[in-house]
Amino acid sequence: PAVLDRPLDLLGRTVVVSAGGTREPIDPVRFLGNRSTGLQGYALAEVACARGASVVLVAANTSLPDPHGVEVVHVETTEELRAAVRRAAGDADVVIMAAAVADFRPVGAVGHKIKKRSDGVVAPIELVANPDVLAELAAHRLVPGQVVVGFAAETGDEDGDVLEHGRAKARRKGADLLVVNRVGEGRGFAVPDNDVTVLDGDGSTVTAVAGSKAVVAGVVLDCVHGLLAGR
Ligand code: CTP
Ligand code: CA
Repeated sequence: PAVLDRPLDLLGRTVVVSAGGTREPIDPVRFLGNRSTGLQGYALAEVACARGASVVLVAANTSLPDPHGVEVVHVETTEELRAAVRRAAGDADVVIMAAAVADFRPVGAVGHKIKKRSDGVVAPIELVANPDVLAELAAHRLVPGQVVVGFAAETGDEDGDVLEHGRAKARRKGADLLVVNRVGEGRGFAVPDNDVTVLDGDGSTVTAVAGSKAVVAGVVLDCVHGLLAGR
């Protein structure tokens, strides 16, 4: 089986992976969320584990079984994810932010269920920006030489194509690698196949791959291994 053919090239390394999507409470029964299933993050955790790494998976609102041999920390909100990732990253060689993190959250969740009003008036939900977990980890490394990897799901728009957006984001984030995933048109979310380009911190292409999330995970970990070997 393919898993036995894998090199144990991450033996002795600690890898933190975040997966899934954060949810920000509006009231006790409602949240602001996103469509991430966590499949790519789980694939990264499983492949890293199979390659010998000690893996901590920070899972935000996924409904996937905990991978064998991986320490899983379940979280809901961005604040919980941030705390769990930073705690685990304190002695990690690699941090991979595959989770879809909510960019904003309601200002103070209401403690009771918001009731529908008979006059049809709807109160607006005021939002506040969340911290950028990846940018923080990249700007202030918790461990010297730690490899920090981000993911970006992009579509083209009037301001640029997928790669133009990806390159700008790679330079903005300051991570060592940014894995740019082309989404839309049936690609990216809740589907087995990905179409990704791996960029370095300058936005230059390191490699590109199309395939299953396990194949993508393998290629991303090859890039990570290359960076670790050079440090
Ligand atoms: N990310 C994060 N914290 C946030 C938002 C994003 O750590 N508050 C991480 C994601 O986990 C991912 C990377 O940043 O690894 C890119 O996320 P993305 O949403 O594509 O980037 P943003 O900077 O939020 O830009 P956009 O306006 O495209 O959403
Ligand atoms: Ca975002």
